[in-house]
Amino acid sequence: MSNRTFTMIKPDATSKGHTGAILQMINATGFRIVALKMTHLSEQKAGEFYAVHAQRPFYGELVNFMSSGPITAAILEKENAVAEFRKLIGATNPADAAEGTIRKLYASSIGENAVHGSDSDENAVIEGDFFFSKLEQF
Ligand code: CMP
Repeated sequence: MSNRTFTMIKPDATSKGHTGAILQMINATGFRIVALKMTHLSEQKAGEFYAVHAQRPFYGELVNFMSSGPITAAILEKENAVAEFRKLIGATNPADAAEGTIRKLYASSIGENAVHGSDSDENAVIEGDFFFSKLEQF
């Protein structure tokens, strides 16, 4: 089991000014931030990042939304990071997210759901490497 996961604070949470509060929750839950950057994905880059969903009906909407404004990308370290982070962010659809989770607090819909979290150790590495060179991962 790896001890790292990858996250993005999405354009909805960024434009509403929640970046600091979300990073604070991440730190307060015992994650160490080992890479961090704010950036704005082009449509092409957002499409590449979510290529695994290319056949889904919501893919176009997802790519449009994820390239609509700045995001903050980060790699986080904690024991059992992937599962622990998914607990902290809550269900993909904020209507199903548990009280106190990031999505319950800050997400407005299944599409505009405030944060991304990797779903496996393997994808955490792929997604982290998409944004950060090895020299930028501490
Ligand atoms: P994320 O964890 O970033 O991974 C894929 C994203 O696709 C997911 O969060 C949602 O924001 C988005 N998504 C999943 N299902 C739907 C849906 N039915 N409609 C719109 N977006 C969706």
